[in-house]
Amino acid sequence: MAIIDLTDSDFENFRKLIYDRSGISLNDSKKELLRTRLRSRLEREGYPSFRAYLDEVRNDTSGMELVLLLDAISTNLTSFYRENGHFQFIKSVVPALAEKKKKSSDQTFRIWSAGCSSGEEPYTLAFVMLEALGDAASHWDVKILGTDLSTDILRRAMDGRYEIEKMKDLPPHVRDRYFRRETGDIQTKSGKILKNRELSRIVPEIREMVTFRRLNLMESFPFKHQFDFIFCRNVMIYFDKPTQGVLVNKFYNFIREGGYLLIGHSESLTGLKNNFKYVQPTVYQK
Ligand SMILES: C[S@@+](CC[C@H](N)C(=O)[O-])C[C@H]1O[C@@H](n2cnc3c(N)ncnc32)[C@H](O)[C@@H]1O
Repeated sequence: MAIIDLTDSDFENFRKLIYDRSGISLNDSKKELLRTRLRSRLEREGYPSFRAYLDEVRNDTSGMELVLLLDAISTNLTSFYRENGHFQFIKSVVPALAEKKKKSSDQTFRIWSAGCSSGEEPYTLAFVMLEALGDAASHWDVKILGTDLSTDILRRAMDGRYEIEKMKDLPPHVRDRYFRRETGDIQTKSGKILKNRELSRIVPEIREMVTFRRLNLMESFPFKHQFDFIFCRNVMIYFDKPTQGVLVNKFYNFIREGGYLLIGHSESLTGLKNNFKYVQPTVYQK
């Protein structure tokens, strides 16, 4: 089989297409990543060149090829309780927020994990909300939305099954309360199917609190309501400043008065024109 190569001009064209459609800005060091992540698939499917594949993506009116391309280049690294300070922050503000909501007969909490990857972040939000609301949790209507660009990763998030390895740093009470042991097959991040593995599955009570859907953050947001908290962590890092600026202002419009935006620990709103109040590093309030 002929080995096809990614020329500099192919890379430029891919870079432009990916930026225009997803906001993801690939620097020169990502050329190798694009080459390695795409080459075997292109060769398997008989594309004579990267250029031919690029044409296919551009001409595919269904948009499916673009989804597959973006699946191949996104970095989905995540974990339960990642950057735990944010979850502690939620626990610290929810009781007072709940008191305030009760006064206006609002029994809802709406939370959005934007760029949720394989679901660990929205599921952790569900655990933390139940704990923050304590005995009163059953009186509250708590809904968490997880969205991502990658359909592949969302399938795994919805399934809610994780390798035991992912559980090892979780507090025992979280493992016991929110997961059930199962044996079954699981697909790894690299697409390999592991047979008959011991897995941990999120319990139905938590799965019911979390909804997943595909959403490209570059597109307009289709929501009819606003959120109390938006988590958009370790996503904007892939976007350039102008794209981040537009996104942050879109988030502002979808946060309830007094609600919060939480971003990743290596991210900041510094230099982006916006109306948020700074609360503490990586936490902003409307
Ligand atoms: C590194 S993961 C972060 C996961 C989680 N928020 C966390 O901090 O652990 C970044 C996620 O952002 C998603 N992403 C990148 N660009 C996106 C876009 N334009 N729209 C929606 N999601 C995007 C990727 O698919 C990936 O799953």
